[in-house]
Amino acid sequence: MMCYYRLFVLLALSSFVVESRHLKGNSYELSNFHRSGTNATIEPKIWAVLVAGSSGFENYRHQADICHAYQILKNGGLEDENIIIFMYDDIAFDVENSRPGVIINKPDGDNVYKGVPKDYTGEDVNVDNLLAAILGNKTGVRGGSGKVVESGPNDHIFIYYADHGGAGILG
Ligand SMILES: *[C@@H]1O[C@H](CO)[C@@H](O)[C@H](O)[C@H]1NC(C)=O
Ligand SMILES: *[C@@H]1O[C@H](CO)[C@@H](O)[C@H](O)[C@H]1NC(C)=O
Repeated sequence: MMCYYRLFVLLALSSFVVESRHLKGNSYELSNFHRSGTNATIEPKIWAVLVAGSSGFENYRHQADICHAYQILKNGGLEDENIIIFMYDDIAFDVENSRPGVIINKPDGDNVYKGVPKDYTGEDVNVDNLLAAILGNKTGVRGGSGKVVESGPNDHIFIYYADHGGAGILG
């Protein structure tokens, strides 16, 4: 039997925010910093892409963790327009859920399903849509809300992927 490990991938992809005055008179290689068109007059934004890679009630925890992450970011001030959620969305109303419409991520926890945007659900949770979303390719997404990361040169992108995985395999 293949051995799976619980996998968390936390990727903080950030563009370098380096203002030119910091670079004057030092020996940094400037070309890399300027490649993305960093412009200190443009307000930096934070984007989040939250992905539950699994489906099925037996994998409850992955979607519960994604919903919980959404609540944390939302409470921290991110707007829905800057948060993109991929989740199969088959947990809240699964026949095995003793509290229909409620998802928790700890035994006495709050309902973390509340208000979660359903950007990409069901079969729309797929590799093509995920790649298109993080690359900001609006014509590349199929179905779903059509939301993609429309980042600027100073933005930070947080990606949280919850699923099974192991060496050479990603669920
Ligand atoms: C920075 O962005 C502002 C607003 O878009 C623009 O007016 C300005 O020309 C830009 N500066 C540089 C150096 O690209
Ligand atoms: C966007 O997605 C479409 C459809 O998959 C593809 O043809 C196109 O090359 C993509 N554009 C970019 C910039 O990746």
